[in-house]
Amino acid sequence: MLLDVFTTRQSVREYSAKPVEREKIASCIEAARLAPSACNSQPWKIIVIDEPALRNRVAGALHDAVMKGNRFALDVPVLVAVVAERSNFTATVGGLLKRKPFAWIDAAIAAEHFCLQAAAEGLGTCMIGWFSEGKVKKLLGIPRLRRVPLMLTLGYPATAHLRNKVRKPVEEMSGFNRYSGIR
Ligand SMILES: Cc1cc2nc3c(=O)[nH]c(=O)nc-3n(C[C@H](O)[C@H](O)[C@H](O)COP(=O)(O)O)c2cc1C
Repeated sequence: MLLDVFTTRQSVREYSAKPVEREKIASCIEAARLAPSACNSQPWKIIVIDEPALRNRVAGALHDAVMKGNRFALDVPVLVAVVAERSNFTATVGGLLKRKPFAWIDAAIAAEHFCLQAAAEGLGTCMIGWFSEGKVKKLLGIPRLRRVPLMLTLGYPATAHLRNKVRKPVEEMSGFNRYSGIR
């Protein structure tokens, strides 16, 4: 059941040193490739960083004095940069008219596809939104005009422990037929 995958996916911040097989990474990339996008624009590029020296340098860009918590990335087997590319013409015009950042929405959906496939493969991931985008772009040769909405960590979790999911109750986050519950 797909819901089982949603339940087992959790942000993993402690990894085993076991290398991640390229075939498993390829299946995660394929999951991202199949993601939906505005006007089928597919405005993302997934850059996998598994070369140890480069990975260590990129990991160094994922934490700073404010976000010390992201230091866990220093011990992650694989890092992934999710690059937001330019949307195609129709999605760009649509996004401007409707004031919606379709490229970022699309890239985030692709990132979640990647993470869910990773969970199905027994791998752990964590999305990272707080990092030095400038340093990451420089290290990976990402063009100046591109943006990097998210980095992902990827590897085998150090433990099989599943944390309790802390989530809003269903009646607070959903409803039928009308918006309710303004607070
Ligand atoms: C857009 C986004 C940015 C995030 N940035 C970070 C981050 O910089 N560091 C981190 O440790 N976790 C980060 N997370 C992970 C969230 O903290 C996590 O998804 C949330 O607490 C729910 O926990 P779960 O993923 O284990 O279900 C991010 C998640 C998202 C979706």
